[in-house]
Amino acid sequence: MQRRDLVSEAMCGPRVLLLPAAIILCYLMTDSYRCVAAQKKNSCYVQDGRADCSRLSLSAVPPNLPWNITSLDMSHNRLVAIPPHSLSPYPGLLHLNVSYNSITKLDQGLCQTLPLLQTLNVGHNEVHMLEQKDMSHCTSLIGLSMASNRLKLKGEPFVALQSLKFLDVSKNNLLSAKLGSHPQLPSLEELNLAFSSFATLKKDDFAFLNHSSSLQVLNLSSVSLKTLEPGCFKPISGLHTLIMDGSNIGTLIISKLCSELSVTAIDVLSLQKMKLVTLTNTTFTGLQTTNLTLLDLSGNGMGKIEEGSFQWLSSLQTLILADNNIKHLTKGTLKGLKSLKKLSLRKALVKSKTSSTPIIDDFSFQPLSTLESLNLQRTSVRDITEHTFTGLTSLKELDMSWSSYTSLKVITNKTLISLAGSPLRTLNLTGTAIVNINPGSFSGLRNLTKLLLDFNFIKQILTGKEFEGLGQIQEIHMSNNHQTVNLSSTSFVNVPSLRVLTLGKSLTVTALNLNPSPFRPLTNLTFLDLSNNNIANIRENLLDGLVNLKVLKLQHNNFARLWKSANLGGPVLFLKGAQNLLSLQMDSNGLDEIPKEALRGLNNLHELSLANNLLNSLKGQIFDDLISLRILRLQKNLITAVRPEVFETPMSNLSVLVMDKNPFDCTCESILWFVTWLNKTNTTSVPGLRDQYKCNTPLLYFNHSLMDFETLSCKDMAPFHALYIMSSIAVIMLTVAALLVRFHGWRILFYWNITINRILGFSDAKVEEGREFEYDAYVIHAEEDASWVEKRMAPLENDKCKFCLEDEHSIPGMSQLESIVENMRKSRKILFVVTEKLLQDPWCTRFTAHHALHQVIEDSRDSVILVFLQDVHDYKLSRSLFLRRGMLRPCCVLDWPVHKERVPAFQQKLLIALGMTNRLER
Ligand SMILES: *[C@@H]1O[C@H](CO)[C@@H](O)[C@H](O)[C@H]1NC(C)=O
Ligand SMILES: *[C@@H]1O[C@H](CO)[C@@H](O)[C@H](O)[C@H]1NC(C)=O
Ligand SMILES: *[C@@H]1O[C@H](CO)[C@@H](O)[C@H](O)[C@H]1NC(C)=O
Ligand SMILES: *[C@@H]1O[C@H](CO)[C@@H](O)[C@H](O)[C@H]1NC(C)=O
Ligand SMILES: *[C@@H]1O[C@H](CO)[C@@H](O)[C@H](O)[C@H]1NC(C)=O
Ligand SMILES: *[C@@H]1O[C@H](CO)[C@@H](O)[C@H](O)[C@H]1NC(C)=O
Ligand SMILES: *[C@@H]1O[C@H](CO)[C@@H](O)[C@H](O)[C@H]1NC(C)=O
Repeated sequence: MQRRDLVSEAMCGPRVLLLPAAIILCYLMTDSYRCVAAQKKNSCYVQDGRADCSRLSLSAVPPNLPWNITSLDMSHNRLVAIPPHSLSPYPGLLHLNVSYNSITKLDQGLCQTLPLLQTLNVGHNEVHMLEQKDMSHCTSLIGLSMASNRLKLKGEPFVALQSLKFLDVSKNNLLSAKLGSHPQLPSLEELNLAFSSFATLKKDDFAFLNHSSSLQVLNLSSVSLKTLEPGCFKPISGLHTLIMDGSNIGTLIISKLCSELSVTAIDVLSLQKMKLVTLTNTTFTGLQTTNLTLLDLSGNGMGKIEEGSFQWLSSLQTLILADNNIKHLTKGTLKGLKSLKKLSLRKALVKSKTSSTPIIDDFSFQPLSTLESLNLQRTSVRDITEHTFTGLTSLKELDMSWSSYTSLKVITNKTLISLAGSPLRTLNLTGTAIVNINPGSFSGLRNLTKLLLDFNFIKQILTGKEFEGLGQIQEIHMSNNHQTVNLSSTSFVNVPSLRVLTLGKSLTVTALNLNPSPFRPLTNLTFLDLSNNNIANIRENLLDGLVNLKVLKLQHNNFARLWKSANLGGPVLFLKGAQNLLSLQMDSNGLDEIPKEALRGLNNLHELSLANNLLNSLKGQIFDDLISLRILRLQKNLITAVRPEVFETPMSNLSVLVMDKNPFDCTCESILWFVTWLNKTNTTSVPGLRDQYKCNTPLLYFNHSLMDFETLSCKDMAPFHALYIMSSIAVIMLTVAALLVRFHGWRILFYWNITINRILGFSDAKVEEGREFEYDAYVIHAEEDASWVEKRMAPLENDKCKFCLEDEHSIPGMSQLESIVENMRKSRKILFVVTEKLLQDPWCTRFTAHHALHQVIEDSRDSVILVFLQDVHDYKLSRSLFLRRGMLRPCCVLDWPVHKERVPAFQQKLLIALGMTNRLER
């Protein structure tokens, strides 16, 4: 349909811009005074040379608009006239809209004042008398609308309109189609006479258009013609389009109309809503000689179409029979439509309470060998047989969506067999109450590329046989099937060419828990929708081999467990198989974790949607492979911190970020980087940044916008922070060192000495070990303890074990000192019998011990044994003997037992200590 209404369109254009106008700019004064208007417009809105002054209750054209405006909309105001002088400030005006006012008269000066005027809309006013002089200067006018006035034409009012292409005089209750008595309007292309009151088209009514060779469209909607004089369309034989919608004329007059049209170039005929209940085999006879290509008969409540009704329309390409009430299509109904390409029977065959289910006879469509598109949407037909669609040898598209055909409930290999001869590409069975698809149901449809099965009740396990024979299929849509479709590993083995597969809200909860994966054969799959299935169990191999998969929709499932680190056997990294994904949607899955490896390798991912989950703290680097990300959605999660470790990579190239409604923690640590990023970014759009991004913690910022966060406070702290860390480390190290020195200085010194000795080669442990010793131990004790030594140590002496006791073994001819030194040298071990007395014995402490220690260090011998007869404090020990318990191996520190029965054990220990190697092993 080409019902053009360019006049009003051009005039109303600027108003469209106003519809969403919430905050608008306006130039009010001549010095382009700018103001921000509130919701309700109270002044004209000017943009790009167009002034919109509609709906302002104005009673005159505002004098202070920019002088150079080209379009002025004064519609819906209170004008009663358009005095030419009121428009004289705007001589460049091309378009003037004064519709919906109360204008009673067109002023002849108007077109003089506006010599460039091209369109004038005076619709919905009260113009009554229209005379020649009113428009005598409107020679450049291209469009004129005078719709909905009370026009009474006097003389030849349109005679001056040499350039006029569009004339609308509809809704004026004109009593004749004759707008003039001699030829005029040479440029007219479209004439609208809708809602006129005349009932007769006289032979010479259109004679005034005798020279209007370009007239193409005539609108006679709702004109209740009763008489058509022969030859009435002759003056306008170039007519292409006739619109008769809503005109209440019977079948007979239509038949007459068609005969009259036979002399025209009629191409499009619209006969909608004309209460045309019956078509007879002669209704369109008159159109036999025309080249009519489009006939619209929709909304006629048509119940009966006689066989052969369309036989005259051999050029018809499009037939629209939508919204009718056809009871019966027979072999003869569509006879003769030899060129038909498109047939719409949308809601044309319907079942009502009072009528029976319509019938489509076998072979009804056989005459339509050129038909490419058949629309049977929302129809109700008793049966589809093996021959219903026979003969549709060019059919490419069949739409039976939302229809009720009992034969579609269970589709078998016979149901659609009549389409086997059609090169069908698209079959739409959406909403047709299918419950079961038997093996081989589509096997005849070898050229089918698109199969739509959404919104059905399919309840079965897809074994793969259902899709047998669909060798060219690229898309199968099976969403919204009440979650009763079950899959098997072979479900799609017969459709390896599939590119699009939608199974949203269709699968049973166990449908995907299969090995091997049902999608395994679909190497060309690019789009997979598994959303809204509540599925919790899938396997890691689900997407294996889907190297071409670009879009994956998994929202509204139950995948939270699969990505938990605590999942038995580790997280299920099911995206491994689909490394070329562009878009991944996993919203509303209850996810609270994203494993480190889950999004690995998705270098091409453009869009990632994880909204409405429970994500809180995200691990670093989980998004690091998403280098191509453009759209990231994370709204409505529990994210508190947005840190660069996680988000720097995915956000580096983003064009859209949606992350609102998260409980952000507005502290320097959690949010500083993000706020800085948001402030800096000029390439990423972040919708609702001001109102939807709120801080949750700390209390200071609670419910404030994220952008209110003071980044400055963090920047000031940065150097202090580093300083703080450094000084802390220094203090800790000092403390440790001090403590170490305080409590272990001696130990350090001791080993330092030994190490130095060893390095400087004062002694060689190996050599030392092999040295011949005379004694096994040199015993140092206080005089008071001599009796203990006598009693306890002497008995241990035998052939293998000899002690050197100070008094007994002084070497003749040597001073006491020299003799001590010599004896120590000859002893493997030096044994101190430690008591308080020993420590007080100045001789012992000052010399013996010192020398013994000297010897130990010099030889780097671990040769000291301490036998404690009393409990002596370590501190005193170190003061007098420069030794501590901790310096010696535990077995070289012995305590004289209190209990007698342990004495043998003590002796045993002592012998072991004496036998220990002297080499330092620590
Ligand atoms: C109209 O004139 C003003 C200056 O008076 C100029 O700024 C503006 O661009 C002009 N508009 C058009 C559509 O020519
Ligand atoms: C129209 O139908 C009638 C019977 O209903 C038949 O007699 C007549 O031949 C048909 N006319 C044409 C042109 O098919
Ligand atoms: C249709 O299916 C039945 C079994 O359900 C089978 O016997 C018959 O051969 C099939 N027909 C065709 C044309 O495949
Ligand atoms: C399917 O299309 C091919 C060309 O693409 C054509 O040769 C073949 O005849 C068509 N099949 C049917 C059943 O029309
Ligand atoms: C997959 O697509 C490629 C390229 O479009 C095509 O050559 C190939 O035949 C397709 N594979 C299958 C199994 O249809
Ligand atoms: C955003 O950046 C501007 C300078 O580009 C700066 O003046 C402003 O303080 C910044 N705001 C925040 C919240 O960082
Ligand atoms: C964004 O800002 C940067 C500097 O901050 C500038 O180089 C770049 O051209 C800007 N891009 C756009 C699209 O404005």
